[in-house]
Amino acid sequence: MADELTPETPEEEQPKKTHKQRKNGLYPGVSDELAESMRTGWADTELHGLEPIAQAAHTAARRAALSARFPGERLVVPAGRLKTRSNDTEYPFRASTEYAYLTGDQTENGVLVLEPTGETGHTATVYLLPRSNRENGEFWLSGQGELWVGRRHSLAEAEQLLGIPAKDVRELAEALTEAEGPVRAVRGHDSGIESALTDKVTKERDEELRVYLSEARAVKDEFEIGELQKAVDSTVRGFEDVVKVLDKAEATSERYIEGTFFLRARVEGNDIGYGSICAAGPHACTLHWVRNDGDVRSGDLLLLDAGVETHSLYTADVTRTLPINGTYTDIQRKIYDAVYESQEAGIAAVKPGAKFRDFHDASQHVLAEKLVEWGLLEGPVERVLELGLQRRWTLHGTGHMLGMDVHDCAAARTEAYVDGTLEPGMCLTVEPGLYFQADDLTVPEEYRGIGVRIEDDILVTEDGNRNLSAGLPRTSVEVEAWMARLKG
Ligand code: GLY
Ligand code: MN
Ligand code: MN
Repeated sequence: MADELTPETPEEEQPKKTHKQRKNGLYPGVSDELAESMRTGWADTELHGLEPIAQAAHTAARRAALSARFPGERLVVPAGRLKTRSNDTEYPFRASTEYAYLTGDQTENGVLVLEPTGETGHTATVYLLPRSNRENGEFWLSGQGELWVGRRHSLAEAEQLLGIPAKDVRELAEALTEAEGPVRAVRGHDSGIESALTDKVTKERDEELRVYLSEARAVKDEFEIGELQKAVDSTVRGFEDVVKVLDKAEATSERYIEGTFFLRARVEGNDIGYGSICAAGPHACTLHWVRNDGDVRSGDLLLLDAGVETHSLYTADVTRTLPINGTYTDIQRKIYDAVYESQEAGIAAVKPGAKFRDFHDASQHVLAEKLVEWGLLEGPVERVLELGLQRRWTLHGTGHMLGMDVHDCAAARTEAYVDGTLEPGMCLTVEPGLYFQADDLTVPEEYRGIGVRIEDDILVTEDGNRNLSAGLPRTSVEVEAWMARLKG
């Protein structure tokens, strides 16, 4: 019967009964005859001669750099585990950025371990769940069995694909508990691995590993730049999709826009890289408006901030602020054109050797000038900037690093990021905005409820920069012409 089907499986890995099995009448009773039937009669589907994944050579170089930074120490980088959404359903899984960056793999429960080979050098092993056991019924009786969730790669297949030796992850916790010598782990993804390491790691040392992995991602290699361009290209198509259905959004809500963009993200990529901001009318003034349940009205603006994440987990981060009926009003155009001018100044300041802060300063300067020119702030501009008075309406920083995380390299030290210098291969957003809240009594009424942001993804090149998202128009006139063409 059912209990006899789990003889050698460690307790935490024993097949769990799922609601699906209960529903299908498979629980609680499984006859010996059925159990025997399910054990046998399956073809050998092992795959041979697999080609390594496209990023395998790059991940090897990344692991070599990591190894050189932490000689003589065991390094543990988990992919993470499924997170419960409710009862026995889980959120879609997304591997930790650190794990995917170092292995190219995205399997839940995976763990990369770099084992020191002496004073220098490491051997890498990726610990994974192997194919489901058919002998003990795991493959059909466990909620995570392959019959329920789909075929996994065997360890031998994973080795060929990733170019890294693979072992059974169910043996890892014990091996880590018994292991001697210094260890560092990336925290926050896998509580099982963290418990196995409790007595061996410290927060401070683990933080150094996290900081290193954040800073290591600042300069993108050729593969990563290609993926970022793919993410942006899909995003451009997603924006076009949205423009084509604005009438349907007017008849429903911002959710129609969210769903339309999501369709493109799921069909061409892995997912959206962050919650899409589909902000119509005054919602544009709420910086992270992701409820997306508001009305879409002709005459208002739509601020759409969205990005497709590729199958290799690189994301775009693009914003356009569009007139819902295809034509900007005078006040909308005035504000839009000011933000455009500010963005132009910011993009021009992105080049190798420039300080990271330069593009922010250049953008803010233009916005402060406009606010003084419009009589919303009293000059001189330098005083406004010194006191930061423009920030009532500019609200946020002008950009951030972009990569596998939308706010990439977030654990980098200030001196390596915000106070750092731009280098070829870095990719960042330039995204100034002006936001006049609907209840802001310090501005004339015609400004209230208007929010404009323009955001592009800019690659630092040897001699300046390249706008990866130039496929979307940016000037107000070009935006109108583009919308007219698409709505045709
Ligand atoms: N989408 C969030 C941001 O622009 O930073
Ligand atoms: Mn954005
Ligand atoms: Mn951004």
